[in-house]
Formats: sequence, C-alpha cells, structure tokens
Amino acid sequence: MKLCIIGTGYVGLVSGVCFSDLGNDVICVDKALKKIKKSDIVFICVGTPTKKNSNSADLSQVYAAAKEISKSIKKFKIIINKSTVPVTTGDEIEKIISKKVNKKFFSVVSNPEFLREGEAIRDFIYPDRVVVGSNDSKSQKILKSLYSPLISKGAKFLSTKRRAAELIKYASNAFLATKITFINEISNLCEKTGIDIEDISIGIGLDKRIGSRFLRAGPAYGGSCFPKDTKALVSTADKFKTNLSVVKSVIRSNDLRSDLLSKRVSLILNNKIKNKVVSFLGVTFKANTDDMRDSSSLKLIPFLSKKGAKIKYYDPTGSKKEFKKLKNVEFSNSIKESIKGSDIVIIHTEWNDFKSINFKKFSKNKKLIIYDMRNIYSPNKIKKLGFKYFGIQEASYLYLLLL
Ligand code: UDX
Repeated sequence: MKLCIIGTGYVGLVSGVCFSDLGNDVICVDKALKKIKKSDIVFICVGTPTKKNSNSADLSQVYAAAKEISKSIKKFKIIINKSTVPVTTGDEIEKIISKKVNKKFFSVVSNPEFLREGEAIRDFIYPDRVVVGSNDSKSQKILKSLYSPLISKGAKFLSTKRRAAELIKYASNAFLATKITFINEISNLCEKTGIDIEDISIGIGLDKRIGSRFLRAGPAYGGSCFPKDTKALVSTADKFKTNLSVVKSVIRSNDLRSDLLSKRVSLILNNKIKNKVVSFLGVTFKANTDDMRDSSSLKLIPFLSKKGAKIKYYDPTGSKKEFKKLKNVEFSNSIKESIKGSDIVIIHTEWNDFKSINFKKFSKNKKLIIYDMRNIYSPNKIKKLGFKYFGIQEASYLYLLLL
C-alpha cells in the first residue's frame, strides 16, 4: 500500500520504518505535505503536548496537518490519526477536511500507538493488540489488511468505533499510571511496617486478574506520555462533566512522590544535607532513553542543590542542559568518577550499567550510603560489604524512630 506518515518524531519514524519493512511504499514528511498526493493512507503522527497554563492537550499540530491534508485529496484516502488525542478529535479532523473535500473521498480513522520509548520497534512488531477505530467498514477492512503481517504473528486486532479507539489510548496510559502509583503508595506502607515491597509486587502480580507488569515501585513516573495523558484525560472528562476522581488522585499522588523521596533523602542524611557529596546515578525518567521529560530527577536534584549538597551526576546518555545553571551540580564522565569521594549514592534510573557496581572498588568511604530508588540491589549483599543501604522498602527503621 502507499502510505504517508506526517510527523517524524519517534512514533512517526518508527511506524514509517516498520510499515516499510512490512512491504509498503512509505513516505515520511514533516512539513512538505504536498508529497502526500499519491498515498492511499495518511498517518497523522504529530505531537500533542500539554497546553501552556492548562491540563488539556494542544491539538494545533493535528489540526494543521488535517488542514494541509484537505488540500491534497484528489482520490479516496484514509486519514489515520496515531497522535494521542482526546475523544472527539477525530470528529474535528473530519469537520476540517470536509470543508474542502466531499465526505465520500475520505475516511478518518483512529489507530492509537502503544510504543514505549527505547522499545518502540519491538512494540510495533510484536504488539499485544492493534486497535482500529473507524465508523466505516471499508476502512476497517483496509486497515486489517495493512496490519495482517502482525496479526498473523499473533497480535490481536480490535475494531471499534472511532471515539472508542481514542479513549482506549488514554485509558490504557491512565490505568498503567494508576498501577504504578498504587504500588508506590503500597511501598510507603511497606516501609513503615518493615515489609519488602518486592514480595507484595510478586504476590499480587501472580493473580492473573492483576498481572505482574508495571508493579515496580520507584520514583514518581515520568516521561512524555503518562504525566501528559493523565492530565489530558481528566481535562476531557471535565469537559464532559465527568469526575475521574481515581485519575485525579493518581496525578496528585505522583506529583507528591518526589517531595516524599526528597524528604527520605533528608532523613537518611539526618537532615544534614549541606556540603554532603551526592553521587546521582541516572537522571532520565527511565532507562534506555535520553528523555528528561517529567523525570523526577528534575525535582530531586534541584532540591539537593538548594539544600547545599554537592551533586555529581552520571547518566549513560551524557550531561543534561536542565542542570547547567544549578549550583554545585556537575556531570561526571563515569560511574566511578561520580561515586569517588561521595557520602551517598542515589540510584535513580534502572540502567543496566548500574546493576553490578563494585562499590568497594569505587569508594574508599567506609560510611558510604546507598539509596537504591529502583530496588536493583539485594540489601543484604550491600550491607555485607559494610555499607548502609536503603531501597524503596528499606527505610523502615528511620520511620520507626520517628513514630
Ligand atoms: C508509555 C507507555 O508504556 C506506552 O504504551 C505509551 O505509548 C507511551 O507511554 P514510556 O513513557 O516510554 O511508555 O515509558 P514506560 O516504560 O511505560 O514507563 C513510564 C514511567 O513509569 C517511567 O518513569 C518508569 O520508570 C515508570 N515505571 C514503569 C515504574 O515506575 N514502574 C513500573 O513498573 C513501570
């Protein structure tokens, strides 16, 4: 099939490359939309960031693409929206295009993506499901045939109405964000009661109705999707006078989590942060990406800097402009350099590089403290080395002292 992908961000580019690999004729464009004339199917894969001073999604790029597409429709085309958009955006796209083109020459379809950063090609080729939301059966059939190579490998194909597909995307992200926030809150209780949160994650995850994934307790969730999409979902629901109280609580709890972890660092350091040398390992919102968007390090590092700590951070993806102007914050070129001379090591992101650090070799400090925010290490092994270790579930005694 002849496809055109509008938007060459990570979703557009990955989709373009993968569809081409499946034998389609693909053009990827960012601005030169005149090139879409010959395509049968046009994908909109542009950004939908949060609007300034608001929680709703900024749809200007989606609508601009729709307007441009309307100038190039000379034969029947399917316009597929892959950008994450609030319910009814497809209706709006249809309205915009129908100002110039008769409705019998186009169909607007919603086909959300579920690609994780760092895993996008794998997620594209082996999706759990392909969701196609269309109000006409002709487009459904064409889309099913486009995705047939993935369906024949086991991907489930779900056809729904257009609005349902739009909501499936937001609801999926909100549900995953809820799962993470839930386990993070349960880990707070575990810390006060001396329970290992990993046991709880495994214990509840073995129930097939719950499932074991996305139950890793850690810092606040971040990234380009969960924070933005949970807020946009609430904003859409507000527009339709529906109170999504669970999602609202998730957003609030996640916002408060970085403050909570900042306080834990203070407690671990007996409230003496000034002049403490902090080795901060990993600053991105998760491993295998250089993305800093909504990473909890953007709250934790400024907090420590403000309190007078000296921070040496290391991330496999290099130094970050976000920390350039902060006092006493510098990038280290290696894990070793970051740990050398430090009072505390904070493991913030679960990069593989951090999973087997030889702390003894890198640090001469016998009182070195390790705060493992991703529960990568076995507490006993680290303690046997003579270091103080705190994981997400391992700060309990501090709390018991405070109760
Ligand atoms: C997410 C969705 O997974 C994907 O389907 C969607 O298309 C885009 O948003 P992504 O933002 O790349 O993908 O990252 P993801 O792997 O989902 O992690 C998001 C955040 O949750 C990260 O900060 C991560 O550290 C955190 N997380 C994830 C946890 O804290 N615990 C977990 O168990 C899983």
